Amino acid sequence: MDPRPIGMFDSGVGGLTVLHECLVSIPEEDFIYLGDTGRFPYGPRSADEIKSYAWQIASHLLSLDVKLLVVACNSATAAALPWLQERLMATVIGAVLPESEAAARTTRNRRVGVLATEATVASGSYERALLNLDAGLEVFLQPCPRLASLIQEGDVSSPEMVETVKHYAAPLREAGADTVILGCTHYPLVTPMLQRTFGRDVILINSAREMSLEVGDVLKRMGIANDPSREGKYSFLCTGDVDSFRRVGARFLQMPLTSVERVKISDLERTGVA
Ligand code: DGL
Repeated sequence: MDPRPIGMFDSGVGGLTVLHECLVSIPEEDFIYLGDTGRFPYGPRSADEIKSYAWQIASHLLSLDVKLLVVACNSATAAALPWLQERLMATVIGAVLPESEAAARTTRNRRVGVLATEATVASGSYERALLNLDAGLEVFLQPCPRLASLIQEGDVSSPEMVETVKHYAAPLREAGADTVILGCTHYPLVTPMLQRTFGRDVILINSAREMSLEVGDVLKRMGIANDPSREGKYSFLCTGDVDSFRRVGARFLQMPLTSVERVKISDLERTGVA
């Protein structure tokens, strides 16, 4: 048993969908969540830039004595997870592999689609993960440069949203993918619209949910889970405006965010010298 909190980070509020799933599956754990809202979005950034941000944030969270680090951001996972794992004396887990495993188990026609940011698609990490699981899969990657920001802006049922979702879904529909990974923290917020666009025969894989199951498994395997009879506590850090993090974040977490503190980007830059 280990009572220390789990450290989790994301490019902003999106990773709160991962935290939401963790609160459902492992409610006894404490979490410290850091949202890099001051530098959102990561999707258009280069892998080197994302790596340096991930390093700074990981170093900061480890200085707070967390027992496990969760990269709750698909773009940061794709750009930086193996790199962080090689360099840190801590267990670091993230996206990509958990939902790739679920997709490889789920597909019936071995055609898997992935919706993700430009950075995630450019990293090739989903293709590598999926083909390692089944070299015979056909993988169709669709970058969605506009989708995360549009979801974050708030009107998830606007005509613009309908058109944007249709536009990004079209190539995967044409390719005949029967399983589609929602490879970005924001996309679970438009699951009903995506399901309607792809049709009822296509199975959508929620990477936030798969990641939360992986967190639970790792805690058990390492013997560092918390007392299952307790109720966890959560605290939040962000690099941008605190009020807007609290307001927008509540939509992603689906509950109010109480304790939110600001961390200065200049302080993170000082902590994280790789
Ligand atoms: N958390 C990011 C991701 O999952 C959201 C999008 C972004 O930062 O561009 O890729």
